[in-house]
Amino acid sequence: MATIRSVIRGIGAHVPAKVMTNEDLAKIVDTNDDWIVERTGIRQRHIAAEDETTADLGAAAARKALVRSGIDPTEIDLIIVATATPDRTFPSTAVRIQHMLGITRGCAFDVQAVCSGFIYAMVCADNFLKAGQSRRALVIGAETFSRILDWEDRSTCVLFGDGAGAVVLEAQPQLGDRSDRGIIASRLRSDGRFEDLLYVDGGPGSTKTVGHLRMNGREVFRHAVQKISGVIEETLLAAGYAADEINLFVPHQANKRILDGIARKLDVPPDRIVITLDKHGNTSAASIPLALNYAFEQRRVHEGDLVLLEAMGGGFTWGALLVRW
Ligand code: UT7
Repeated sequence: MATIRSVIRGIGAHVPAKVMTNEDLAKIVDTNDDWIVERTGIRQRHIAAEDETTADLGAAAARKALVRSGIDPTEIDLIIVATATPDRTFPSTAVRIQHMLGITRGCAFDVQAVCSGFIYAMVCADNFLKAGQSRRALVIGAETFSRILDWEDRSTCVLFGDGAGAVVLEAQPQLGDRSDRGIIASRLRSDGRFEDLLYVDGGPGSTKTVGHLRMNGREVFRHAVQKISGVIEETLLAAGYAADEINLFVPHQANKRILDGIARKLDVPPDRIVITLDKHGNTSAASIPLALNYAFEQRRVHEGDLVLLEAMGGGFTWGALLVRW
């Protein structure tokens, strides 16, 4: 039976020009390149300029995705931005980007699920498109995490970076069988019992400040492999695919050791996993679209490929999404 699927028409990404290496960080805090590479796999990250905001990065990524999609900005009727570092408490970063792109129709809003934000935003857009409420969506993950880091805390400031990635989704009729392109299945989860393991210690409703990121890395690590593997298995089961049928895994880029653990648990060959954390660090909601864009530019993703996205972040929130390119 024919069905509507959200098909990826274009992808783009943008990172700030300034690169901060592990050696640069060693001049600010008591750390070194060996520790960071061995414990995380990160070698460098990009840091936004003083006058460069989350919306600037997101709009630049969106422009590239639109060009590659061949879709005119005026045809976009939905913009969802996943971010935990909005330009302002309000209006949403999505509405700012809508304005920067010269779009005045449809609707735009932010989604806040920290590192899982891009998966949450994709699922949200997919449901709008499948319900017929929108036809062409921009889904953007954009962050300036450098603004919420405690630059005196070596256990967190070495991990994160800034950047943005975007995809253009279009509602397209498909046959409703295994040949379908577009989003095939997804699963979202959250559990607030784990808030104290990863959070920002400020906000307009509590401290009236922006606050800084706080994390119990060891405990987050302990949960990550188990929770992410679980939600991937649920997603594959819902879609009727086995892990060895997936052409490309595009995980949230937090720690190379977490990715190795998931690969071992699900028996995924390392060459099917996209890794960009060495270049970007952990860019929260931007990490998956940045990695997907990198894979696209490296010609590692082709029409018809099954691509699996997964993430876990503060909340906890976590999720996975299967899409046929
Ligand atoms: O995207 C959201 C999800 N976030 C994550 O998935 C992050 C999950 N967690 C992790 O990736 C890891 O736990 C970290 C990379 C954050 C830390 O790695 P770890 O192997 O768990 O290290 P640890 O926190 O157990 O610290 C080990 C040692 C400690 O020293 P002692 O107590 O053993 O003497 C730390 O003080 O490493 C020390 N340390 C550092 N040393 C040099 C912590 N940070 C640093 C640093 N440079 N930057």
